[in-house]
Amino acid sequence: MFPILRKERLAPGINLFEIKAPKIARHAKPSQFIILRLHERGERIPLTIADHDPERGTITIVAQEVGKTTHELGTYEEGDAILDILGPLGRPSHIDRFGTVVMIGGGVGVAEIYPVAKAMKEVGNYVISILGFRTKELVFWEDKLRNVSDEVIVTTNDGSYGMKGFTTHALAKLIEEGKRIDLVHAVGPVVMMKAVAELTRQYGIKTVASLNPIMVDGSGMCGACRVTVGGQVKFACVDGPEFDAHLVDWDELMKRLTYYRELEIMSFERWKGREGR
Ligand code: FES
Repeated sequence: MFPILRKERLAPGINLFEIKAPKIARHAKPSQFIILRLHERGERIPLTIADHDPERGTITIVAQEVGKTTHELGTYEEGDAILDILGPLGRPSHIDRFGTVVMIGGGVGVAEIYPVAKAMKEVGNYVISILGFRTKELVFWEDKLRNVSDEVIVTTNDGSYGMKGFTTHALAKLIEEGKRIDLVHAVGPVVMMKAVAELTRQYGIKTVASLNPIMVDGSGMCGACRVTVGGQVKFACVDGPEFDAHLVDWDELMKRLTYYRELEIMSFERWKGREGR
């Protein structure tokens, strides 16, 4: 069992959990993830390791309540425990001294860019973080990203905080201003990552995206996380989760993410009924 040491509500529907998992905390690297199962009857879901502390033996995950398991996880409190956590999984980010790196996080993707931004900064890159949210009340970790970035730009779709618009608008502005950008790293909704890739392609800016397909086993055996990159079949859990964003078949990824939508809704409704919510 993996005890929850700390829970924090970062924004409506977005929860942080610091969990005791010493072995994972010792080995975790930026961009790696875990697969957890809450209890015997739980499904397996992947979540990025947003932070880790080898000395405390803890990992931090940030989960948005979108489906049955993430809502159920949202009911867990400090002192509760998670049955299984598998990890760290996936290949770590390629951290190097690229020059100027633009980190783009959309929604809960902001938590996922944090460890990468931190590592990029530590090796001497100039880090610009663009954090995109729908609206002001959903903004979180702006301070945390400021600590590991040279510049931070916050965007909200409705203009209630920071720059009005999408992360791509902020990125386009940087490009138009003539900012030299050596690498863009994007994590967030597929539509956002696709839009970032389309923009940077025009300027030949190397772009990496961290993909979020459905995962089951997390070890390259089940095929659930299959993606097409540069015309080749890849498994995001073992070959990724990061890939060259200009080579990803985004439309296929979007389609595959909807395969189980009806079943997901049914399962969520059943859970809500049982919980009396
Ligand atoms: S999750 Fe099964 S192959 Fe990747």
